[in-house]
Amino acid sequence: MRRARAWALAALLALVSGAAAAPAVEPAPRAYGGRPTVEQLTALGRAMFDDPGLSANGKMSCASCHDPAAAFAPDARTPSPFSDGDPAHAGTRAIPSLRYAQFAGRFAEHTIDDEETHGVDGGPTGGFMWDGRADTAREQALIPLFDEREMANADAASLARRLAAAPYAAEFRRAFSAPGRDVLADPQQAVRWMALAFEVFEQAPEFAPFDSRYDRWLAGRATLTPAQLRGLALFRDPERGNCDTCHPSRRSSSGRAPLFTDAGFIAVAVPRRADLPPLAASAAVAPVASRARGAEADLGLCRSGRAGLTDDPSFCGRFRTPTLRNVALRASFFHNGAVHSLRDAVAFYATRDTDPGRWYPRNADGSVHAYDDLPADLAAFVDREVPFEPLPGGRPRLDDRDIDDIVAFLQTLTDADVDTGIAASAGR
Ligand code: HEC
Ligand code: HEC
Repeated sequence: MRRARAWALAALLALVSGAAAAPAVEPAPRAYGGRPTVEQLTALGRAMFDDPGLSANGKMSCASCHDPAAAFAPDARTPSPFSDGDPAHAGTRAIPSLRYAQFAGRFAEHTIDDEETHGVDGGPTGGFMWDGRADTAREQALIPLFDEREMANADAASLARRLAAAPYAAEFRRAFSAPGRDVLADPQQAVRWMALAFEVFEQAPEFAPFDSRYDRWLAGRATLTPAQLRGLALFRDPERGNCDTCHPSRRSSSGRAPLFTDAGFIAVAVPRRADLPPLAASAAVAPVASRARGAEADLGLCRSGRAGLTDDPSFCGRFRTPTLRNVALRASFFHNGAVHSLRDAVAFYATRDTDPGRWYPRNADGSVHAYDDLPADLAAFVDREVPFEPLPGGRPRLDDRDIDDIVAFLQTLTDADVDTGIAASAGR
């Protein structure tokens, strides 16, 4: 009954939009009253994602940084933060995987979620990018397309010209042109459709397979080793790892698979990248974080351009909690990519404040320059909860074996298609 009605409606809309009168060689362009279908948006999004022809130098596509064969994270040959040897292209932030990114939600300054926070304000959450500065994937896609260090299109008109030369230009026109018009003659409109196509493509099934060993274990279809189970228990224990408070590992009450991020913003104070010069004294007045270069500070949320948050020090140094799904595939960790092994990323939580000399450089007088990637006046806003808070007596919350077991557990979060033996070595 419902299907018959939908068919009748589609036929009616096709008549109204004149599609039914189109010549037979030209297939009816739009199924639902002048709107492109999800299939068209996805197919065009996928084609554009892989197309270096959309960049100014003809060499860079979205896939150059977000490789579809590597869970949409950089492949083994691509440095993260991005670098191709040309300082004009050098990135300042680690390249995230785009898997599960679609669930970030819009940015909110206050988050009150009965299930997670029990009615207490959980603080800022959501948005795309490490600093949450884009509210939707649509908005996000415009950033790399026009960023001078990335795909470097000068304006919508030059991007529309590149689109017109693409092998899928005819399909783009068919999907997005209003009757009797050429969408590519209206660059603003073309770029809007393009951004929507990226957003819809980024919701295709390959962006959220939920089929890691851990997912299969949750569904009762796989086992975990004793080390992985112990790692999971430490991950959840509020007095030990306490990882679960920000990287939730349980299904929601409605049965939704865990995302391993609550999308909250926290100042973790990761060390400064070793290849950058020390922070300039003027770091606190650096421009918007995305433009941070050289000796400037990347202050995250308080420089994301959000009204009311700008330069409020309590929002500075905060970055959005990433998902830990597929984290074992990464070669650099945290927003600035300063940490280069998963074990170190976990060990950092245990010993940041008990053994800061392991993570931070020394001042001229030999003292440790803790939190060296943040201006000194922001140290007060750095997170010091468990697991950072040492045990009474100053010992770390996690010892070496605990760290190994948490790493073993994190290796169960790799999606099946990209899980090349990581789980095998851990007893698949
Ligand atoms: C030069 C490398 C590079 C290219 C090319 C690139 N990206 Fe990214 N992408 C990044 C980096 C780095 C970030 C994080 C940036 C930040 O937080 O400021 C990112 C973030 C994202 C995010 C946000 C993910 C999240 O979890 O919030 C999405 C979505 C995304 N990129 C999609 C795209 C699309 C679509 C394209 C092509 C139009 C593209 N990227 C091209 C490097 C790149
Ligand atoms: C209070 C919230 C919070 C807690 C608790 C927490 N994390 Fe995180 N985690 C974050 C945030 C925020 C980031 C990103 C910080 C940045 O890049 O500046 C992060 C990043 C990471 C990363 C890097 C991921 C990547 O893609 O680069 C790993 C690995 C990680 N956390 C593991 C853990 C583990 C293991 C624990 C428990 C021992 C833990 N986290 C506890 C908030 C938290």
